[in-house]
Amino acid sequence: MKAEQANQDIHAFTAEAREAIYQTIFSRRDVRGQFLPKAVPDEVLSRIITAAHYAPSVGFMQPWNFLVVRSGEIKRKVHAAFADAHAEAAEMFEGDKRATYKTLKLEGILESPVGICITCDRERTGPVVVGRTHMKTMDLYSSVCAVQNLWLAARAEGLGVGWVSIFNQSALQEALGIPKGITPIAYLCVGYVSHFYAKPELEAAGWLPRLPIEELVYFDQWGQSDEQQPLIGQLIKHQAAAQAAANAALHQPVTGKQHGG
Ligand SMILES: Cc1cc2nc3c(=O)[nH]c(=O)nc-3n(C[C@H](O)[C@H](O)[C@H](O)COP(=O)(O)O)c2cc1C
Repeated sequence: MKAEQANQDIHAFTAEAREAIYQTIFSRRDVRGQFLPKAVPDEVLSRIITAAHYAPSVGFMQPWNFLVVRSGEIKRKVHAAFADAHAEAAEMFEGDKRATYKTLKLEGILESPVGICITCDRERTGPVVVGRTHMKTMDLYSSVCAVQNLWLAARAEGLGVGWVSIFNQSALQEALGIPKGITPIAYLCVGYVSHFYAKPELEAAGWLPRLPIEELVYFDQWGQSDEQQPLIGQLIKHQAAAQAAANAALHQPVTGKQHGG
């Protein structure tokens, strides 16, 4: 603890505030089946959308819009678009994987009280954008940053978010009246939940495990691992702590005095 304090920059948040940030990150989940019908107040919705709008964006392009879906009729159209793509998707997996895929719950479009579609307007600030002169996909990544801001802010508010991407893009655009020049980035199901799981549902279902972080970090050149680097030991320790934080979040609220220090 003392060593950690010594490493703390003067601009760092207090220990309690830092812990809240990390706890938000480690206990965020993709939520599909745990939505409650409880309404999300506009004040809360406004806070999480504002968090999204404060995301970084290439050349400060802010290419996003936030399409808030509350209408049951529109949700049913979105769900129908999902159902078509989901049936197609199942055929793309072989054998056991196909059978398992069919058992997975991969959306909460109808159960969640609010849907939010975050989009990217690729022409928002004209053809030449600072930082996007060579890698044209940077605008798409900017809208993804907005998604992640919203997702984390929502977790801190006690709201679950589920990203649904199993759509034929044109069918989703049609259901939401999104014009051709605008790219849908994420259809998000948002609402209060009965509970958050400690692990990704795909991990719990045995679909894929979380990868060991130490195998993902290279030094100076692609593919160059080095177990002797002190950073590796730290990463192993922090990955274990991250999972412990997610487990702990199951039993206590994310904010509050019990998290101090
Ligand atoms: C780009 C993107 C698209 C995703 N699409 C879907 C989806 O269509 N359906 C779904 O159930 N989850 C979807 N997810 C959620 C992932 O399955 C989930 O993030 C992952 O399994 C890890 O779980 P966690 O978010 O709870 O940590 C998507 C996530 C991302 C980042």
